[in-house]
Amino acid sequence: MEKIVSLCKRRGFIYQAGELYGGLNGCWDYGPLGTELKRNLKDFWWRRTVQERDDVVGMDGAILTMQQVLTSSGHIGGFSDPMVDCKTCKGRFRADNVASMPCPEKPSCSVGGSPKCELTEPREFNLMFKTKMGASADESDPNATAYLRPETAQSIFVQYKNVLDSSRVKIPFGIAQIGKSFRNEINPRNYTFRSREFEQMEIEYFCHPKDGMRLTDEWLESRLCFYEEIGIPRTKLHILDVPDGERAFYSKKTYDIEYEFPFGIQELEGVAYRTDYDLGVHQKGAGRSLEYFDEETKEKYLPHVVEPSAGCDRTILALICEAFDEEVLTDDKGKEDIRTVLRFTPRMAPIKVGIFPLLKKNEEQVRIAKEIQRTLQPWMNVFYDDGGAVGRRYRRQDEVGTPFGITIDFETLGEGGEELKNTVTLRHRDSMEQERLPIAGLLAWLLERVR
Ligand code: GAP
Repeated sequence: MEKIVSLCKRRGFIYQAGELYGGLNGCWDYGPLGTELKRNLKDFWWRRTVQERDDVVGMDGAILTMQQVLTSSGHIGGFSDPMVDCKTCKGRFRADNVASMPCPEKPSCSVGGSPKCELTEPREFNLMFKTKMGASADESDPNATAYLRPETAQSIFVQYKNVLDSSRVKIPFGIAQIGKSFRNEINPRNYTFRSREFEQMEIEYFCHPKDGMRLTDEWLESRLCFYEEIGIPRTKLHILDVPDGERAFYSKKTYDIEYEFPFGIQELEGVAYRTDYDLGVHQKGAGRSLEYFDEETKEKYLPHVVEPSAGCDRTILALICEAFDEEVLTDDKGKEDIRTVLRFTPRMAPIKVGIFPLLKKNEEQVRIAKEIQRTLQPWMNVFYDDGGAVGRRYRRQDEVGTPFGITIDFETLGEGGEELKNTVTLRHRDSMEQERLPIAGLLAWLLERVR
């Protein structure tokens, strides 16, 4: 993890929020390349989940959430983790994690493991961030209190009826949302894995009660395929069929999709069959019917919900961990060298292609390289680099996961014969093999591979 964290900072993927002032614990800023990577992930999720399906529509809800919504959903009463204090070091810890946390005073022991530790009895700590709305906010006015949403799901349940009435969707159908969620985690840890501000990619899929179990299994399969498509192999994913007693009380079935992170096997996504719990509590809380009337069967019922809920930042972390590689290369003289490569699948890679004129001083090479850059730019993120030896330029792109490199050389200008004129060297990041491609076919060739 140390090498990954260092690379992420050095090459502009992820920085700690507020680092200049010492850092804000549990919050992260994405740099230029991290932002591109995140956009690629979110765009591809949206494409597969919403654009390419007839039965899912999207929404983008407010982050500030009404108190009544979260009272009905159960978050105000019960969205908490057990917390203990240590009277010696004054630290606060998640009670169910103390065994795996180093004691701040004696890191060779776990929290509670040193004779000096003096832990209190666990008590519940609500994880929501509370705030006041409006200039004349009054403590006693329930409408003046708002919360930063702890999950994107609640705005989907609250708007379910509006979407149904305004979109001509019929059961079964889903509403998808990507957006920020906030949890005041007691101990944020493992880099971006457990943060206080993070992004979720959630689908609430509304269905007839008889279809809930089947659809939960279907969504699990569909989500596993998605991870494969973004470059996380199935062999690195684990499916936890959450046993009775460990699931939320309203859930009839929950699968956790877990990934083998360097710090252990941990959850990436939950696929939960939430029954009619959510619509039921909001129907009761708001005093408005959320029942569905099936025109064909004339049946009236409260839909059930299957929820695939993925963490965007956790998936980004998994993508980076999966892509990171250090390859030992041996040159002709037997000298060893380490090549750092991020082996992102081309559709996730932040930069799709590096464009290199072989010689910076050769005006014709530079002109053609810039022309190729202008042709590709409307379609994909490219990087133009004319600094230093071309081998060094390749390595710089390997380190940030750019799958292809294009070099404009003397052959491009026709100096290697007529048949090579207007062709470029195309270098593959993973194999480091090179081939020649005509400039005119570059865009189509690349689009086929990076979408
Ligand atoms: N609506 C259901 C829900 O929010 P969850 O299991 O609490 O379920 C879903 O969260 C996903 O959101 C998790 O699988 C994880 O990927 C991500 N997530 C949850 N808490 C997180 C945190 N503190 N930091 C980063 N990601 C988090």
